[in-house]
Amino acid sequence: MGLRLGDTAPDFTAETSEGKITFHEWLGTSWGVLFSHPADYTPVCTTELGMTAKLKDEFDKRNVKVLALSVDDVESHQGWIKDINETQGTHVNFPIIADPKREVSTMYDMIHPNADNSLTVRSLFIIDPDKKIKLIITYPASTGRNFHEILRVIDSLQLTANYSVATPANWQHGEDVVIAPAITDEEIPAKFPKGYKKIKPYLRTTPQPNL
Ligand code: BEZ
Repeated sequence: MGLRLGDTAPDFTAETSEGKITFHEWLGTSWGVLFSHPADYTPVCTTELGMTAKLKDEFDKRNVKVLALSVDDVESHQGWIKDINETQGTHVNFPIIADPKREVSTMYDMIHPNADNSLTVRSLFIIDPDKKIKLIITYPASTGRNFHEILRVIDSLQLTANYSVATPANWQHGEDVVIAPAITDEEIPAKFPKGYKKIKPYLRTTPQPNL
């Protein structure tokens, strides 16, 4: 059975473009993003890795470590990284796992045989500091991911981990959030002193509590 939200992210040791990594130890107390790419020297992947590198400050701000995976070997990764740096105007600043034996890809169910028998699809896992999987998304090879959306989701996950709130459709950091249904109206003033709006008994909003 594949991995599900709330599962512990499987630990592994793998060679990467920055040396050998044991995943849980490498994560330490950080959040993590682990994401796969079909293969080295492919155009969409090149833009995705360049974009991720450019967003390093944003990931750092959120205490998130980023780890990419592609099924090619370290030597191939090193050559490809030069191309990414050159074409995307950046410097790849995170490790890329070399997974030629498909060990990590198989562990994380990143190979979808109906898409391709041997290459990984675009899987992405967000992992919290307890090593629990908080989000899984899967895109086909032909669709590059939106890494601003990944940051937005991390903002939501980090907020909702600490407050009894949820984030509505298209929510962005700084906007009002939804009060969790489990919170009674009587409990709201103590928990959300900035006030709230009761649009329906089940739809109550409050200013983002951690600002
Ligand atoms: C790409 O990353 O550009 C790509 C990889 C596999 C199939 C299609 C596109």
